Amino acid sequence: MMDLSERSKEIELMDGFQGTENELELVLTDINRVNAVLGGNAITLEAVFRLLRKHPKKSYTILDVGCADGNMLREIALRARKAKIIIKLIGLDLNDLSLVIAKKKSLKFPEIEYLNQDVFTLENMDLDIVITTLTLHHFRDRDIPKFLHRFSEMASIGVVINDLQRSRLAYYLFRAFSVIFIKTYTAKHDGLISILRGFKKKELQNFADQLPNIDHQISWKWAFRFRWVLQK
Ligand SMILES: C[S@@+](CC[C@H](N)C(=O)[O-])C[C@H]1O[C@@H](n2cnc3c(N)ncnc32)[C@H](O)[C@@H]1O
Repeated sequence: MMDLSERSKEIELMDGFQGTENELELVLTDINRVNAVLGGNAITLEAVFRLLRKHPKKSYTILDVGCADGNMLREIALRARKAKIIIKLIGLDLNDLSLVIAKKKSLKFPEIEYLNQDVFTLENMDLDIVITTLTLHHFRDRDIPKFLHRFSEMASIGVVINDLQRSRLAYYLFRAFSVIFIKTYTAKHDGLISILRGFKKKELQNFADQLPNIDHQISWKWAFRFRWVLQK
């Protein structure tokens, strides 16, 4: 019987990816398909645009931590263009190959720039919103409070986190789902590890309790996600 009482420490294949650019592109296409079919990106988009409406400014800077191929950033850019919102988008990722793909896919998006860096070595920046999707579960428990503290200080409006619920049902449903919707072994393997590295609501609440001066809204969203909005 799988033990889900604690977050798994197993490493995802993507975190030490050894394949070619083409192979990585196939894995990222799989991840984007999962997000599209299960509505993963919409969870973040809805919160980001609600925050923008609540905090009117001439222009905004948004940082996406763990942006991979920049799919979320392009979705934000398109929606901002439609709403005539001036926005600068920065994608940060430590995987240089992902950023090669991100830059290629973002040639028509001058509002997006990319930084190849580990988030834990990033200098202070002027930011309005920080988003991170399916990336928090890559961090160790002891690093998460540091990340939350630093980026909720840096973001003038707020931080939007979107990550997975650690649940047996999610694990088995994803296994069935992946037979039809996922083509690469890496995305199938990492999808399951991601769920085991995901969170229970009370764990997110415990992290939130370590930041008492921040307002936290943690909500469960289909499919087996938590959206956590932090505001000063
Ligand atoms: C599962 S992918 C998520 C990609 C995308 N945000 C999404 O929602 O599909 C996690 C990404 O986080 C990046 N990552 C993990 N640890 C990181 C760190 N310490 N600093 C920057 N990026 C990191 C990985 O390289 C990977 O591209």
